[in-house]
Amino acid sequence: MSSQLRVYPTRSAAAHAAAAQFVASTERAMTTQGRFTVALAGGNTPRDVYRLLASDEYAPMVDWKNVHVFWGDERCVPLNDAENNAHMARETLLDHVPVPVTNIHRIQSQLPPEEAALDYEKTLRQFFNSRDMKLPRFDLVLLGLGAEGHTASLFPGSPLITERERWAAAVYVEKMKSWRITLTPVALNAASKVIFTVIGEEKAQAVKQILSEPKQPNLLPAQIVDPPEGQVVWIADKAAASLVNP
Ligand code: 6PG
Repeated sequence: MSSQLRVYPTRSAAAHAAAAQFVASTERAMTTQGRFTVALAGGNTPRDVYRLLASDEYAPMVDWKNVHVFWGDERCVPLNDAENNAHMARETLLDHVPVPVTNIHRIQSQLPPEEAALDYEKTLRQFFNSRDMKLPRFDLVLLGLGAEGHTASLFPGSPLITERERWAAAVYVEKMKSWRITLTPVALNAASKVIFTVIGEEKAQAVKQILSEPKQPNLLPAQIVDPPEGQVVWIADKAAASLVNP
């Protein structure tokens, strides 16, 4: 696996870089497979990136009708809840580009957590197995980073950090007092490319530890993301990368 950190002077420049990387990934996938599969990140950081992808500057560069959208994780709240990651993606991107509804593979977060996880696992296996893939080889997985080192819904101390079979699972996050559905390291590490987009000084300590300290994924779950046949790109603004030695 190759991993690289790209630092940008501003939040906006970092968002543009992530949008450009997304477009480049779609072009590669369309050329080789005629389709593009992406797992979107949740939270706030990706909003700027998704809005750019929906803009006249980037949207025309993507063959949206052959894009398949999944999620890296989801909060166990209904779709119309502002906390729902699919809700955020629809507001900022999916309601503004012509991705076919049948290509949007939402986590059914209105179901009881375990049912939602099993449903998502089934969706993933049907989609990738029907394309002769034994693993969910996403062309691109977008991830964010929590200030304490979590990514997707893999939080410090989570039993899912050592998951070796399931591709998706339900997890109760004590810190958030809420259930989440998340891709497991098995799925994240099958990706062709992973882009972490990290903005702001509050993430700087985690970025530094993740990129420069020995691997301790139980404490820094983002370190578990290490796809053997994939590339990991960290896109950060100056503030988030401020503690990383040049
Ligand atoms: C989520 C995300 C989560 C997020 C980080 C960073 O559902 O919240 O998957 O892993 O990426 O918590 O969140 P911000 O981008 O809001 O800082």
